[in-house]
Amino acid sequence: MFNNNTIQRFNETETPFYYYDMDVLRNTLDACRDASSKYGFHVHYAMKANFNPQVVKTIQSYGFGADCVSGNEVKAAIAHGFDKCKVVFAGVGKSDKEINLALDANIFCFNVESVQELEIINDLAAAKGKTAGIAIRINPNVDAHTHHFITTGLDENKFGINTWQLNDVAETLRKCANLKFLGIHFHIGSQITDMEVYRSLCIRINEMQDWFEDHGFAIKILNTGGGLGVDYYNPDTNGIANFESYFEVFSKFLRVKPGQEVHFELGRAMVAQSASLIARVLYVKNGQKKNFLILDAGMTELMRPMLYQAYHSIENLTKGSGIRDQDKSEIKYDVVGPICESTDCFRKDVELPQSHRGDLIAIRTAGAYGEVMASNYNLRDQVLSVYSG
Ligand code: LLP
Repeated sequence: MFNNNTIQRFNETETPFYYYDMDVLRNTLDACRDASSKYGFHVHYAMKANFNPQVVKTIQSYGFGADCVSGNEVKAAIAHGFDKCKVVFAGVGKSDKEINLALDANIFCFNVESVQELEIINDLAAAKGKTAGIAIRINPNVDAHTHHFITTGLDENKFGINTWQLNDVAETLRKCANLKFLGIHFHIGSQITDMEVYRSLCIRINEMQDWFEDHGFAIKILNTGGGLGVDYYNPDTNGIANFESYFEVFSKFLRVKPGQEVHFELGRAMVAQSASLIARVLYVKNGQKKNFLILDAGMTELMRPMLYQAYHSIENLTKGSGIRDQDKSEIKYDVVGPICESTDCFRKDVELPQSHRGDLIAIRTAGAYGEVMASNYNLRDQVLSVYSG
């Protein structure tokens, strides 16, 4: 929901841009911190969801850790002041250069995704006379019941180590003197709203703990990954992620022993609701079969609808501000971008008030995997960012 002053400000700003509502961000972070600290859980922010400097700085100020998936994310986390003891480096394809960078930065832990990667990290750490903290990413074969493009925890996915390989892992850990085994890591997918899925994950984690302990490895860290979803159909505050129920499931079903820490890597849930993509209508094209709203933003600014058929609420703000309240009728539009690709469509048959060239359009819940996935395809300008307050 945008007030008239905000819409007025949008009117005076070049479009398209991401609008970050820093109050929504802080409210979300408050909710996450309160719900997790109740159980003593540690949250690492999955920086891949949004590395906009203002957003990251705000998240860092809450004392959360950082979950990074590239050398550059590790560098950015440290530059933004994240405590290196709370920086974790995950990813299925870490390059030698990235591993060396993370070793030099003395980060807390590498989440390792293959036996070969264990050996490489051990060799690189040995060459520096260092010991690398390690968590083993296990593929738990738990179905996240989310879009198949963002499911990661099944045997057929490229991520993690399958359970039938665990004997190799144990053997490798025993012979690698420059690795310090810290614990186990899981991540089953993203945009998960069914808490039953997390209960199944807890059961798998408990079994895996037993396996490692039976093989002589003490577990300090249980890293459950991320994936908590948000309500894209409710872009205002009631769509904020259900942190309470999420952490409660883990508090109930995860077996946590004295001295163990439980880590989470949340991305989307922490940032999704805080931003909208604001665009202008360039042209209204009325066809025989379809009406098109052609915006000045497209898949180069927000890729999710085109890549995952993801739903984002779309609103005409000019209408909402009462400027053209005489146009009461709702019309169905295909809301599309300017890019030379047929898939460059935010959504088909969106019911909107009659819209005009120059109207402001908000595409909501775009704070996660929005700005960070923007590209300059068609040699487009880099998308701008505007902040509340
Ligand atoms: N941990 C690992 C190992 C991950 O791969 C991810 C996300 C996260 C944590 C954070 O997941 P989250 O809490 O944000 O769901 N671009 C897609 C989502 C890709 C998620 C990649 N991994 C989208 O726009 O829906």
